[in-house]
Amino acid sequence: MQTDSSFTFVLFGGTGDLSMRKILPALYEAHRAGMLADSGKIVGVARHEEDRAGYIDWVNGHVKPYVSKDGLDEGVWESFLARIEYVKLDLSKAEDFVLLRDAVNKLSGTRVFYLATGPSLFVPICHALASVGLNENARIVLEKPLGYDLRSSNAINDAVGEIFAEEQIYRIDHYLGKEPVQNLLALRFGNALFEPLWRREWVESIQITIAEELGVEARGDFYDNTGALRDMVQNHLLQLLSIVAMEPPHSMDSDSVRDEKLRVLRALKPIDPRDIQRVAVRGQYHAGVIRGTAVPAYATEPGVKKDSTTETFVALKVEIENWRWSGVPFFLRTGKRLADRVAEIVVNFRPVPHSALGPTALRPGANRLVIRLQPNETIRLYCLAKQPGEGMNLASVHLDLAFDQFFRENQMEAYQRLLLDVINGRLALFVRRDEQEAAWRWVEPILNDWSAANKAPKPYAAGTWGPAAASAMLAQHGTCWLEEEN
Ligand code: BG6
Repeated sequence: MQTDSSFTFVLFGGTGDLSMRKILPALYEAHRAGMLADSGKIVGVARHEEDRAGYIDWVNGHVKPYVSKDGLDEGVWESFLARIEYVKLDLSKAEDFVLLRDAVNKLSGTRVFYLATGPSLFVPICHALASVGLNENARIVLEKPLGYDLRSSNAINDAVGEIFAEEQIYRIDHYLGKEPVQNLLALRFGNALFEPLWRREWVESIQITIAEELGVEARGDFYDNTGALRDMVQNHLLQLLSIVAMEPPHSMDSDSVRDEKLRVLRALKPIDPRDIQRVAVRGQYHAGVIRGTAVPAYATEPGVKKDSTTETFVALKVEIENWRWSGVPFFLRTGKRLADRVAEIVVNFRPVPHSALGPTALRPGANRLVIRLQPNETIRLYCLAKQPGEGMNLASVHLDLAFDQFFRENQMEAYQRLLLDVINGRLALFVRRDEQEAAWRWVEPILNDWSAANKAPKPYAAGTWGPAAASAMLAQHGTCWLEEEN
């Protein structure tokens, strides 16, 4: 389906890493799929290129390699380039914003300003847009990380909020645009099957893991000032947690879903600073081997301080204080340079209350639902079955649901979905200010403790599953991470 109307999509940071890897390739895919209104235009904004010809050269040289091989068609690519305009802009020059206004005023349709820049530039850009009247009837897209802590995120939100109304602000968390994350909503709220079991009476514990094999790549400088808690937990992991734990929304409109997620975030049990050692593990990778290739230690990556105490791994025990989830531990985990790239949710159900069939039926995790978000989206339900032959011996078996067996169409990339939603004015998959505040408020005691203690994170070898303390934390609850089973 094509975007509802024409649009002018202005991309600040138009020659940045994100524009190159994600935003422009996603716009190309939407264009190729015929999902963009014919008259829609993209305006790259940057300092480096002199003019449109220079920018188009840059797009050809840098963006094209990130377009999927199957999707690259020279004719379609040329017609995509025809949508692109360019404005050279120095943020410190007010007159450059006048030029931007003049360029944008020549174009029609919904105006979107996408700030693919560092968060320190969000407020100056918004002020400059307002000074030339470009904030009116426009949408603004803010990339994460939005701020560094609750105070700085509030400062940005306050300042942006003076210029744009909340309905004009689209805060991106690209995990919300992923097909499997959408599917989680379908699984939970489109089926009656799981809902009666989805609560403390039947669920013993839940694990949510986002593990990466990659290190910090070219982002050492940014990452060293950020760390895994801010980069992944405050946003992606807490958003996943809120979708797993939320009550059924009354409808799928933007505020019904976001209201329910917010209730979960506000019900997170505050972390008592005296408990942090017990419920939070931070790690940093040392040199190791991933899939047979030696990889260097975090502290020797370009842009990283040699004596850095930034965490590249976090594991947390989280509790939700409400009727549905009271007492159920949620174990969250994320890390760079781990043994595998996987994002998954593991729901461990309680065993039967009494087993007439021997001890196997009393084993934790005998019934378990594993929702694999990436790679290879699958849902696996573990049950016990009788082993063939004499006697009544139980063994674990599973039902597998691999989505690519049912749906042959290409999946839409997260950014493609989210960009189309911005152009079409759909806010449901964007983070509302109150959600963001609740998430920062919850992580704040951990951030404070880690920065005050200034202790080195626990080391782990690249290519493993993180520090042993992350396993010990689960062992205290009589459980273990999924890959440690057997
Ligand atoms: C980003 C983080 O938000 O998410 C990166 O800044 C991380 O550090 C990335 O690598 C992971 O996203 P995905 O979609 O590859 O799982």
